[in-house]
Formats: sequence, C-alpha cells, structure tokens
Amino acid sequence: MAAFWRAKIKSMSAETARESLILGSYLERTPRSGRRHDEARGLLPSGIVHDARRTWPYGLYVDRAMGSRKWDIDGNEYVDYHGGHGALLLGHQHPAVVAAVQAQLRKGMHFAAGHELQIEWARLIQELIPSAERVRFTSSGTEATLLAMRLARASTGKGKIVRFQTHFHGWHDHAAFGVKEHLDGTPTVGVLADVAANIILVKPNDAAGVARVLGERRDVAAVIIEPVGSSSGAIPTPPAFLQELREITSRHGVLLIFDEVVTGFRVSPGGAQALYGIMPDLTTLAKIVAGGMPGGAVAGRKDILDWLDHEASAAGGRERIAHEGTHNAHPVSAAAGIATLKLIRDTDACARASASAGQLRAGMNTVLEEEGVPWAVYGVHSFFNFFTNPENHAIQPTTFDAQAVPIEWFKPDKRERLLAKMRLAMLVHGIDLKSWRGGIVSSAHTQADIDSTLEAWRRSLRALKEEGDLPQTAAATRAQ
Ligand SMILES: Cc1ncc(COP(=O)(O)O)c(C=O)c1O
Repeated sequence: MAAFWRAKIKSMSAETARESLILGSYLERTPRSGRRHDEARGLLPSGIVHDARRTWPYGLYVDRAMGSRKWDIDGNEYVDYHGGHGALLLGHQHPAVVAAVQAQLRKGMHFAAGHELQIEWARLIQELIPSAERVRFTSSGTEATLLAMRLARASTGKGKIVRFQTHFHGWHDHAAFGVKEHLDGTPTVGVLADVAANIILVKPNDAAGVARVLGERRDVAAVIIEPVGSSSGAIPTPPAFLQELREITSRHGVLLIFDEVVTGFRVSPGGAQALYGIMPDLTTLAKIVAGGMPGGAVAGRKDILDWLDHEASAAGGRERIAHEGTHNAHPVSAAAGIATLKLIRDTDACARASASAGQLRAGMNTVLEEEGVPWAVYGVHSFFNFFTNPENHAIQPTTFDAQAVPIEWFKPDKRERLLAKMRLAMLVHGIDLKSWRGGIVSSAHTQADIDSTLEAWRRSLRALKEEGDLPQTAAATRAQ
C-alpha cells in the first residue's frame, strides 16, 4: 500500500474511516501500483506523466492490454474505457496493426529520409477527410493545433485566434488557458500575457458572440473548435452551430479550423466534417490517425498548406513557414496509422463503437433511474459523459437531453471526493473509466463488456450510497 495513503488512513477520523470502504478495497487490490506510485513520486512530478492520469489516491500501473481489456501489475482485469486517450478506436493489439508495426520494426525505425509509407498514409487521410487537399505530419495533436494556428496567421496576415471556453486543443501556449481554469482568457502560469492577448475566448455554442467578434474586428485569422463539443462532447456542440459557424467565418473571410484530434476517424471514417457535411479550411488530427503510436497531422486547403511549401512560397515571393520535427511521419507510426485507417475505411468499426456506446448510455441511465440517482449519462457517437447534477436539477436520466439544457448546467462539479470515489468504485468493480467525467468506447467492446459495466455501475452506485455519498432513497426524478 502506498506509504502516503497508509499514513492517511491511520490518521483518518471516524467519519473518514466510514467513507473509506471503497478506498480500502482499492488499496487492497492494487498494492504494487501503490508502491510504484510512491517510487515514481521521487522521480516524476506527482508521480505522473500526463495530468489526465492523475487519480486519487494513485493511478493504476498497467502491465498489458488486449482488445477491450487491460490488466494491472497486480493482476486485476479491467474493461478499458480510456482507449489510449482515444487513440485506440479498434481496441488494444488489433492483429493487423500489430503485424504492420512488427513488419516495419524489422525494416528499421527511422531513416531520416522520405519513405513510401508517408505517401500511403497521407493518401489515406486525403481519401477519408474531405478537407484534406494537403497533409503535413506532426508528432502530436498539440503540435498539430500549434501549426494550424501558425498557418492561419501566416496565410491571413492576421494575429488573433478565436477559441471557445472549455474546448481543449493541447497544451501549447496558445491553448493553455480557458479550458478548466482562466476562462477569462488571462494566461496560466508560465504563459506570456502577450501570447494570451492574441486569443479571444467566446462561450461555447455562442454564434452571436462569434458574429460580434468577427463583425467588430479585422484582425482575426481563424476560429478553432472541437466539433462535437469540449472534451468529447462534455459540453455538446449542436451540429447546427457548426453550420452557423461555417457561414459566419466564411462571411467574414476568417478561417475555420476543426480540431478533429479526437473526432477524426471516430465519429465517422471522415470525422465530424464528413458526418455533418461541413468543410473546414484546416483540420488537426492525432490519436487514431497514428493507430496508437505517436503522431499527428494538419490537413486542409492547398493554398494554406502551401505556406510550408518551398516552391510555392518562392513563386509567391513570400517567406515560408519553417517546420521541422524529428518524428514527423515516423515510419512505425505510419505503419500503425495505415493499418488502422484501412480498417476504419473498410469496416463498420466507427459505427460499432458508436452503437456500443449508445447501448451503454441507455443501460447506465436505466440503472440510475432504478437506483434513484438523479444523474444522467449522455453523449454522442462512441463517447459517454456523466452529468452528476451538482445543482440537483429535476431530471429523468432516461430522457435527459444534454443538447436541450442550458450549458450553465455543465459547470464543473466541485464534489471532487464523491467523483473520485465513483471512479475508484468502478475500478474496484473492474471498470477503467477515462476519468470521473466518462469514457470512450472502441469497436472491440463486446456485449459481455457492456453487461459487466452495467453491473459494476449498479454496484458502484450502491457502494456510494452505503458510504453516505449518495442519498439512500430514490431521489425526485421529475420530468425536465
Ligand atoms: C481535441 C484535442 N486537441 C488536441 C489534443 C492534444 O493532442 P496530444 O495529446 O496528442 O498533444 C487533444 C488531446 O487530448 C484533444 O483532445
């Protein structure tokens, strides 16, 4: 057991001890993860390498994964709804992806030269993503959104970028505020105020707000958006808003960037733009595009990507955007990406993942209703999000419509301990969520996975009730 938490438990008050049954089970099941966490805290800030993996009291150390499942170093098995942060639409170790990676490893890892896979990979992206006249590879989604913003600024000669509050576009300086904190657009620590001043934050889904900004200013290069809404639709974006956004940006000669790092090759083989029939000027891709390996890309209009092109820039008598990157179009990532994109193109993988998520959302809402918990599980495509109803609105889980309620309802739930315990209770029952906010489903999830998740959901809610975190009796579920 992690020393830190062993000490914590010893010092628990009677009330905290009563609360600790879920915590106790977790500590008992995962002693090796706890020890590794202690060790890591002496090496890595907070013992982690990605803020989203911070879990109370410590995160799992995972040994292996296959299909929809993963196993921690203590030997516990989990249904995985984290899906490689969304990179694994096909689940873990799809045989075709593994074979492609192995074949490439036998040929060599890095040639510091052009290789044939980079052409095949780009061609597949061009075939699937409607706006992809040209493609530039990067090593991550963060790099992709950074490059897209620079392309937008260079090609328009304008400096400002409009973003939506709570929408996430990676961790670089132009995106590192206005997501969870600093919604007023002030810079987070370490980011220069001069950089933050070039980002204009607008409320999610506020078409009038965007129209006002673009109407009043002549210095806006682009608007960037997560097309299904912030954090995989946690604050949903109605498709009609995307259409409106396209019209407003076109009217004002401002570029529209779809950040399809998560939605690309997931909500449909051609991403949100193919699904909704809306053509952005630039698209950022990562995660699924590289089949579970590191990688990303910016795709879009040729005249904009031409700002990276030596000959086109020389012909236009203008300075070119310099862009390097040791691992751009890494051969092993290209191999995994090609195998993945072919399967997505040629099978119903996206539709299957979405159907499983739909079944899960419906089943979880039925459980909430039966257990008298006034929460809801909502979402689109292969995402599921929890509405934990901190303000106790009168809702009915099975008819809750996230797109119909005011977005103020989705303010962060401050009951961190309750939510952390819910996540922990699910882990104790063999389910690894993306976070306490929800999860992401792959095409490898089966009916057995869904059934065991629903059972774990019921048991977890009951455990929370037993520990006094949720009301024991059925709560009011008046219609919305
Ligand atoms: C919508 C979106 N854009 C950009 C990023 C950043 O991608 P990466 O983690 O590859 O840097 C993410 C990561 O989760 C994302 O969800």
